[in-house]
Amino acid sequence: MLHLDLISTLKDIFGRFDHVRPSHARGVFVAGSFTPTNEAKQLSAAPHFDSPSTPVIARFSLFTGIPDLPSNTPQATPHGLAVRFLIGDDTKTDIICQSSVLFPGATGEEVLAVFQSFRDNTVEEYAKDHPAAASFLQEDRKIPKNFGTQSFYSINAFKFVNASGKSAFIRYRWIPLSGKQYLTESELEAKGPNFLFDELPGVFAQGPIIFKLVVQVAGDDDVTNDCTKIWPEDRKLVELGTLTLNKVAGEEELPPQNQTIAYNVFPGVQGIEPSDDPIIATRSEVYRISSQIRRDAKV
Ligand code: HEM
Repeated sequence: MLHLDLISTLKDIFGRFDHVRPSHARGVFVAGSFTPTNEAKQLSAAPHFDSPSTPVIARFSLFTGIPDLPSNTPQATPHGLAVRFLIGDDTKTDIICQSSVLFPGATGEEVLAVFQSFRDNTVEEYAKDHPAAASFLQEDRKIPKNFGTQSFYSINAFKFVNASGKSAFIRYRWIPLSGKQYLTESELEAKGPNFLFDELPGVFAQGPIIFKLVVQVAGDDDVTNDCTKIWPEDRKLVELGTLTLNKVAGEEELPPQNQTIAYNVFPGVQGIEPSDDPIIATRSEVYRISSQIRRDAKV
């Protein structure tokens, strides 16, 4: 019931739209490739960390389940970046991130309670004794110049295992090569409601959007089963590689049958395993059901 309740409550809040994601509804697919550093394979035996270059199909998105949500509003944040590594015919793995380090609940049940308080207009009351929800709701999120001028975070922890069997718990970050760049209020006022999408082809015409993939490695005492607990900033950071996004995906990268692509939180490749973070299993099942509902929706 939990998984369906999560989906259904998102739809209660944002509306019911066939073929549309109930969260991060509005997005754009982009294509490019990933090149690993030498350090990457020392941490994880995953195939894309031991291959010169792996093609990717990624999707930038706005928050909420509203399909025509404007770009120039804080309600559209945190933004999403989902990256699929196309490793081989039957092998792929995804990293799904958002542009905030904060998340409002540590378990599926807690997240459902947050969603329900939104739906019932009791969220301010709820936030009073739920600090993670309060921080997430009150965060002052700026709007970036384009999708590629902000960092993205995996929130959930994963377990890396290298070829010798050595393991480490990590959280992913995508760091923009351009540095973080946000719009001032007056710059934002001059932008049209769809500027993040309308301007993207022009951004690519000037050059690729590039992110460094970095992992924050957990210390011995850092919790891995509560994504609302942020690890201290002095933890080791290891650069795993470079993501180069070249263009808005066209028919070549995204044939019609793949337009309903469903990203998966469960890594599904050797060298990367879920941690004991309960949100991972919840998300995995919610995304599976949600994408099935999207695909099966009657036109
Ligand atoms: C219990 C917690 C969560 C629930 C219930 C939830 C729910 C959902 C749902 C229903 C979708 C649409 C899936 C589809 O139809 O393919 C979705 C997509 C998405 N979620 Fe979550 N989510 C959760 C946690 C998170 C977290 C922790 C992050 C960030 C790290 C995140 C980032 C995203 C992104 C970026 C997408 C869009 C993926 C795409 O572009 O296809 N979500 N979420």
